Amino acid sequence: MSELVTLTRDGDIGVITVNNPPVNALSPGVPEGIEAALRECCADWSVKAIVLIGGGRTFIAGADIKQFAKLASGAKGIDAGMRSMFPSLEDCSKSVIAAIHGTALGGGLETALCCHYRVAVASAQVGQPEVKLGLIPGAGATQRLPRLAGLIKAAEMCAIGDPVSAAEAEQAGILDRVIEGDLLSGAIAFAREIVAQGGPPRKASDLSIPPCDPNALAVIRATVSKRTRGLMAPLKAIEAVEAASFPFAVGMQKEADIFKECLLSDQSKALIHVFFGERAVNKIPGIGKETLTLPIRQAAVVGAGTMGGGIAMNYANAGIPVFLKEATQEALDHGLAIIRKNYAATVQKGRMTAVQMEQRMGLIQPTLTYDRFAEADIVVEAIFEGMELKKQVFAELDKVTRPDAILASNTSTLDIDVIAAATSRPQQVIGHHFFSPANVMRLLEIVRGKESSPTVIATSMALAKTLNKVGVLVGNCFGFVGNRMFEPYLRESQFLVEEGARVEEVDAAMVEFGMALGPLAVADLAGLDVGWRIKNGIRHLIPQELRQPLIADRLYELGRYGQKTKAGWYRYPEGSRVAMPDPEVQQLVEESARNAGIERRVISSEEIVERIVYALINEGAKILSEGIALRAVDIDIIYIYGYGFPAYRGGPMWHADTVGIKKVHERICEFERQHGTQWSPAPLLTSLAESGKNFSDLDTEHAAAS
Ligand code: 3HC
Ligand code: NAI
Repeated sequence: MSELVTLTRDGDIGVITVNNPPVNALSPGVPEGIEAALRECCADWSVKAIVLIGGGRTFIAGADIKQFAKLASGAKGIDAGMRSMFPSLEDCSKSVIAAIHGTALGGGLETALCCHYRVAVASAQVGQPEVKLGLIPGAGATQRLPRLAGLIKAAEMCAIGDPVSAAEAEQAGILDRVIEGDLLSGAIAFAREIVAQGGPPRKASDLSIPPCDPNALAVIRATVSKRTRGLMAPLKAIEAVEAASFPFAVGMQKEADIFKECLLSDQSKALIHVFFGERAVNKIPGIGKETLTLPIRQAAVVGAGTMGGGIAMNYANAGIPVFLKEATQEALDHGLAIIRKNYAATVQKGRMTAVQMEQRMGLIQPTLTYDRFAEADIVVEAIFEGMELKKQVFAELDKVTRPDAILASNTSTLDIDVIAAATSRPQQVIGHHFFSPANVMRLLEIVRGKESSPTVIATSMALAKTLNKVGVLVGNCFGFVGNRMFEPYLRESQFLVEEGARVEEVDAAMVEFGMALGPLAVADLAGLDVGWRIKNGIRHLIPQELRQPLIADRLYELGRYGQKTKAGWYRYPEGSRVAMPDPEVQQLVEESARNAGIERRVISSEEIVERIVYALINEGAKILSEGIALRAVDIDIIYIYGYGFPAYRGGPMWHADTVGIKKVHERICEFERQHGTQWSPAPLLTSLAESGKNFSDLDTEHAAAS
């Protein structure tokens, strides 16, 4: 037996404990250790039953995902231990009881399903989240869960992947008992009851499936395909669950075939990249566990507009009281009314109680003054975008807050160092760039000024987690990572329209690619006036020779600001957010293109996607070589969580690796020949293409060096 698994005795009960921190994943050595312990228990006549439990903070949280990445790239035999352990557990001649705390996920729940009984503490959660990695369960859950909980519950759990609580799992028949008090003692007592009852161990694979409504699976299939557009694994998971109606061995073979198909798919590789990427972004050179973080007990937000209101909601949702300051009573009332409306919508959807809503509203403390700002540990500024205004507010904040308070700006483009210089404490100043709607979007770009202190950075990263955001540290440049890349992305979308694609064709091609919304629909949502103001601020910096989009400024001049004025790139019927193609815009496009001498042609959706996505990748490569993003995966996470890039494509930089750097580079060079210098390939991209490396290799080198 390995150190990863220990065997102890409590009288006639053998206790197998898995000790593979942090989450007791089934890494090499763990399944082998469990199997060895089982053999020892079976060989010992004095052991009457066995309890399997996790040491530390959780039961087994799944197979080791790192091993899957290796298996997908062709490694052979590394899963042999797991393959052997699952049947050994179920076929064990003595009853095995899984004792669950923390999370039993994926292969962890499957381990428990191979045990003959399952008990758990009330706080435990169980689930099959494999679909979130582009996989389906691969160790029998699609066959055993239907036998315990019915086809419908099994299909929901395997296709959606969300965990269920211990109480729900007990009700569904997945758990046999919820234990109050000490888990191990409760599990041992349960084991003794089973021994006293006598009889052979109960195998889930021997049970028959409870009858169910034959239409219910079709309903789940329809819901899942709508919710998980573009993803392959969820529907495949339902297919595997359906196969549970066949004899067990046939169903298991079906599961194995589908699992393999998913494991080898680009989608799964991308989603596994995203899983580790989400965690990698927390690893910042020079900042570690030893870096001091400041407690955030009281926050303040300046500006209760579109962003400020959402930011205040984030703090209230995390239970942190927050002052919300506005310039006028009218603006304050308006901001608060929107917050209340947002919460009320959540209550209406049943995702929050009316009492919780009032508690959260109670945490938002409206004000027109800085009177209590000395109590704030952090202030987030979310006033209009404009350097002079921001400098003025930061100078005020410098005076009214404690010297140790963090001063954060939600600016989407402006120079954090210039803002910091308006204070006497630039080391306490940082960018906290939330994304709209701020109470919904998970991304928080944390913009490091040249003087932002390690403590302020570490506190910001920790705070992102508290606020249920994915914090990504970025450098200070115009637009930081996300918006800087969005500029060429939107630029190419507009050029394509000028060159002959219809507005709705551009958006449809990008939605088909997997984006949550097409680029021009996003522009309408964000407001063409906002885009115009940002561009206007930097117009003098744009080189004369660079081709500039023709239409967006004209739409702005016509008062077509997007959804807010019911007209932008599209028109929006009164009371609706449905984007309707607008012949007036089409006419404007054709006229502008004619005047500029642009020859219009039919453009394929393949070219639309390449032009738009490769523009993103090329800018990403520049950002990476300038050190504005720490790693390629940081850019991927930003685009997935802030801009609706499909996670199953792994983010723009991973997508470049998947397509092949050489091919992406060749196309960019071709675009440069056709369309001019805005397509000059990033030197980093050229050097990767020449050396045969990709962005993932760069990240691996970065991790090894730090
Ligand atoms: N394999 C390998 N590493 C894992 C892992 C896993 N299954 N689960 C977590 N880790 C690692 C993380 O990468 C992280 O490493 P790091 O510290 O180096 O960054 C560390 O464990 C801690 O993880 P978190 O930061 O996520 O810790 P939390 O406490 O926030 O969350 C958790 C714990 C809920 C268990 C979360 O880690 C999680 O959801 N893990 C994935 C669970 C999962 O998807 N299981 C299914 C795997 S696929 C499978 O089992 C297939 C089967 O059908 C055969
Ligand atoms: P907004 O116009 O909706 O809100 C700004 C609010 O600030 C107004 O209500 C105004 O009354 C208030 N305000 C101005 N001066 C003030 C002062 N001295 N004290 C208190 N309140 C004051 O603007 P929005 O869209 O919320 O933008 C705010 C900031 O967030 C800007 O810097 C913007 O670039 C940034 N941002 C905006 C995003 C968006 O999608 N709208 C996304 C990410 C960042």
